Amino acid sequence: MDKFVINGGKKLSGKVSISGAKNSALALMPATLLNSGKNILTNAPEVNDIFTMTKLLTHLGAQCSFENGTVSIDNSNIISQDAPYEHVKKMRASVYVLGPLLAKYGYAKVSLPGGCAWGPRPINLHLEAMKKLGAEIQLEDGYIVAKSKKLKGARINFDVSSVGATGNALMAAVLAEGTTHITNAAMEPEITQLGDYLIQMGAQIQGLGTSEITIHGVEELNSADTKIIGDRIEAGTILIAGAITHSQISIEYDNVHHISSIISKLEDAGVKVLEGNNLVTIDSTNSDLKPIDVTTSIYPGFPTDMQAQWTALMMLANGTSTITDTIYFDRFKHVPELIRLGADIEVIKNSAVVRGVKSLKGAKVMSTDLRASASLVLAGLAAEGTTEVLRIYHLDRGYQKIEDKLTALGADIQRVKTDEF
Ligand code: EPU
Repeated sequence: MDKFVINGGKKLSGKVSISGAKNSALALMPATLLNSGKNILTNAPEVNDIFTMTKLLTHLGAQCSFENGTVSIDNSNIISQDAPYEHVKKMRASVYVLGPLLAKYGYAKVSLPGGCAWGPRPINLHLEAMKKLGAEIQLEDGYIVAKSKKLKGARINFDVSSVGATGNALMAAVLAEGTTHITNAAMEPEITQLGDYLIQMGAQIQGLGTSEITIHGVEELNSADTKIIGDRIEAGTILIAGAITHSQISIEYDNVHHISSIISKLEDAGVKVLEGNNLVTIDSTNSDLKPIDVTTSIYPGFPTDMQAQWTALMMLANGTSTITDTIYFDRFKHVPELIRLGADIEVIKNSAVVRGVKSLKGAKVMSTDLRASASLVLAGLAAEGTTEVLRIYHLDRGYQKIEDKLTALGADIQRVKTDEF
């Protein structure tokens, strides 16, 4: 097992490039199951969730390779429509194979994902969407068994906007007979990229990037190649690394508008932000951080996947701020660990009330999930002395060698083997 050892308090400087978006890749890879050809996805981040998806697709019979950021998936010999527990329990996004398998093969057996570190993460909306499209769904021995001779276009209104359920509904509806209207659809950039990719395969989709998507089903889809968009959460995390250490740094990132909500909050907090030519530069060298409240919401609002990192930044602000998560009410496992570094935070219902402190002191802390671990790394960069972040396998699920990027910016962070758990 690995841990990070961080000697905090170093100013950062320079420029790093942002990797491809994990959550886009995790939707695009199963989408290839809708065709029987060879698909190439470039700019894939080398993170464990992508390796897990590769293993799952290989289990289904796909021929996958993943080298230097290029994922190649050949679906000419799919032999199984069964996503077993051993894969799904590792990563909830495995449920993305449900829609495409059902649409193309008329059958899918997918393990129920089970619990999550920060509370319930149901998949009822995915199942309701499949039922609307005409699938027969049964729950058997911890598995979803979905069957349908031919899916039929339908009207699907999501009670709650869901990235995953919209993705699954899109992937199922593209091969359904007739027209599907999805209302209250997710507008996240990863869903827009998924829709664009399906269009490249030959799907007919209108309204991507809005909450109303219309899909006219087609008979079959072709293989397609695409470049995965940059990771907006990694971009936001690195910008906060600069802000929390009172540094000036830049990121190379080609979809600046995807992080508008984060940039705007940074500006509110007193951080100078300069945008141009696929480059975002932040300068917080001379600024006192102002306490800024944040409420997470669906895109284009402030992402829940940046909530823990914003909490870390606000620990060192000049006053009290409140960070509310409206997407995941229990996503505050990072708070007790941040308190070990000297933060003053109280969780009240789905809000963290953060009273800014003058400084943090390094300590040993433990990651509990992907974004929680990112917040601990950020805190460690700002804390005086040494911080050890244990269980960074959580971080490795979604950040491509974050220590290399931070080291390139001048941070003192090392990955060290450990027996500590
Ligand atoms: N929800 C339901 N029923 C469902 C599905 C979702 O009630 O069937 C609720 C959830 O409980 C939540 C809300 O809907 O309150 C939104 O959840 P959503 O379905 O949008 O989340 P997801 O698709 O499971 C993706 C990302 C998450 C990210 C969320 C929200 C992927 C692979 N995962 O999850 O990313 O937090 O959207 O933006 O795209 C991460 O990268 O760290 C991560 C957790």
